[in-house]
Amino acid sequence: MHRTHTCGELRIEHSGTDVTLSGWVQRRRDFGALTFIDLRDRYGITQLSFNEEIDKALNDKARSVGREFVIKVQGEVIERSNKNDKMPTGDIEIKVSKFEVLNAALTPPFTIEEETDGGEEIRLKYRYLDLRRNTIQQKLVMRSKLNKAVRDYLNDADFIDVETPYLIKSTPEGARDFVVPSRLNEGQYYALPQSPQTFKQLLMVGGLDKYYQIVKCFRDEDFRADRQPEFTQIDCEMSFVERDDVLNTFEGMIRSVFKDVKNIDLGDIPVIPYDEAIKRFGSDKPDMRFGMELVDIDDVAKGNGFGVFDKAESVVAINVTGGNQFTRKQLDAFTNWVKRPQIGALGLIYCRVNEDGTYKSSVDKFFDQEKLKLWAEKCKSEANDLIFVLSGNAESVRKQMNELRLHIGSELGLRKKDEYKACWVVDFPLVEYDEESDRWHAMHHPFTSPIPADLDKMESNPGAVKANAYDMAINGMEVGGGSIRIHDKALQKRMFDLLGFTEEEAQDQFGFLMNAFEYGAPPHGGIAFGLDRLSAILAGTESIRDVIAFPKNNMGRDIMIDAPAELNSDQKKELGMN
Ligand code: AMO
Repeated sequence: MHRTHTCGELRIEHSGTDVTLSGWVQRRRDFGALTFIDLRDRYGITQLSFNEEIDKALNDKARSVGREFVIKVQGEVIERSNKNDKMPTGDIEIKVSKFEVLNAALTPPFTIEEETDGGEEIRLKYRYLDLRRNTIQQKLVMRSKLNKAVRDYLNDADFIDVETPYLIKSTPEGARDFVVPSRLNEGQYYALPQSPQTFKQLLMVGGLDKYYQIVKCFRDEDFRADRQPEFTQIDCEMSFVERDDVLNTFEGMIRSVFKDVKNIDLGDIPVIPYDEAIKRFGSDKPDMRFGMELVDIDDVAKGNGFGVFDKAESVVAINVTGGNQFTRKQLDAFTNWVKRPQIGALGLIYCRVNEDGTYKSSVDKFFDQEKLKLWAEKCKSEANDLIFVLSGNAESVRKQMNELRLHIGSELGLRKKDEYKACWVVDFPLVEYDEESDRWHAMHHPFTSPIPADLDKMESNPGAVKANAYDMAINGMEVGGGSIRIHDKALQKRMFDLLGFTEEEAQDQFGFLMNAFEYGAPPHGGIAFGLDRLSAILAGTESIRDVIAFPKNNMGRDIMIDAPAELNSDQKKELGMN
């Protein structure tokens, strides 16, 4: 037998018990006649003790093992003289009587402890060693719980788990496809699904009614902390539903997940129209954990001789509660921060609201106390607050202000890791115009239905048409998105026309779906959540790489297995790729 207990399990009440443990050597402390080993497994760490006076050979053997050796020990649980209240097993140790090395180990290239000394690249290369670290294991355990909570909820709600194919034809989710050459059909390629979108719609035509799948999706996109080229969706679709049916069902799912995994009751989940989200936060995935909303101050900022404001399309402010405490140096740091190319602002104006009711701004030359008072009134500022102002092109200024708001929120500790605020954002624009390609692009995907009231604007004023689409954001991260779909061939054709598909292109790419719509497609809608992103939020980490067992690096490489790699010449020949 390899073990009677795990390394996380023994307590003072086990004193006197003879146990067998197996695990990895986390640390060895060698005092010559006395040796201590911290033995680690997934469940915890237990201290082993060896004493030369009791058994010299055993103590010598213990002194010979290195970090990460795999060992098996047998011995008696005894009370420790030197208790460690930071460890759950800290009251006891094992007085070892038998000892076996199950496997030796090379010295690992980084320390396998909570705080490792290894940089990210080396840890990715030796991911199997990094996985031994408790912090990573805890995140994967949490992800597994999340998975179960999702399945429990959806199974209880009568959803059917259906698998859809991975070798398919391109699905338009806005990214590039990964492609797979076909040996049997030389010169032809499968695309890996960016999502199972068209298949889940076909399942609705097939009468499955409520579908879900926890499924890998593949997108050849540029790197970001919240993106991986292969990632996992909780993909869902329902028939005979309207928007609020979908929102209710999946609000229920998210609540149930937070309850099951974290024992947290998510508070209110407000439903915010897209236009309002942009106006109040400058973002379609607002972080609702704190206020500091955007305020348009055009009317009190323009026309005072300050050219920067006068020339700007839009002047936007935020009020930082208690911000008057910022030193000159901190204000300079914020200014430099917004001027970085990633943010792209030309400058940052501030106005201090002093304790005594006076104002001090960086544009005092143009704005006297009376005028600054108008800013403060607009921003509902109080004594000791500080107003930041950005100006410029309406769209970019909101984006920049969103970034600044989040940055200040982080700096002031307003984005607490253990606080969760979700919201729905609805009524997205159906399409957006892309200058470069000179055509309209679907903001979500081409199967998204316009809201019925806007149908007659599709041809005359496409930019004003709202989509029957919704996203969920938690703590400023988009965790899910979906829509009510088009289920009617004629409307789908109007959508393809708007997106500039010729009849042949539409038929060639999506003929299968359009044809299916001619055989009694039910009204349907759905959503997909990013499982990696939800896991990251629940684990309180910024990067989804932390919650993926074998993630890719920022060049889309798996540096452990060294992929992607070249094919050998035989493989190439077989695939007709010479
Ligand atoms: P969408 O493209 O919005 O919708 O994707 C749904 C959710 O998947 C997550 N996500 C990602 N996570 C990690 N890495 C990526 N590269 C990545 N891309 C997306 C996000 C996102 O909210 N078929 C539609 C859904 C539908 O309409 O039902 C779709 O895929 O959390």
